[in-house]
Amino acid sequence: MPTIIVTTREGEEVSVEAVVGRSVMEAIRDKGIDELMALCGGCCSCATCHVIVDPEYVAQLSAMSEDEDDLLDSSEHRQPTSRLSCQIRMKDELTGLRVTIAPED
Ligand code: FES
Repeated sequence: MPTIIVTTREGEEVSVEAVVGRSVMEAIRDKGIDELMALCGGCCSCATCHVIVDPEYVAQLSAMSEDEDDLLDSSEHRQPTSRLSCQIRMKDELTGLRVTIAPED
């Protein structure tokens, strides 16, 4: 099972196992990191699953939808490598992926 590294808002690095084909949001939530609220359950309508992706992995991510882009625009904390973690589908190429949970809006 691929592993990803999640940095929490307190700066703690947590190793999280992710299932290929499921979202990074689900992996973080299943690990019990509850500061990632993911209120809409992955429907791309809340932006509470916002993460900042390590630039090294950005090229491996699928393209962002217009909806995701619009939701990220509503965040005060958007950065160039911001993504909604419910929209990142885990795949083997993302093994070792590093993401940081964005500050709460
Ligand atoms: S969980 Fe709501 S947009 Fe990702």
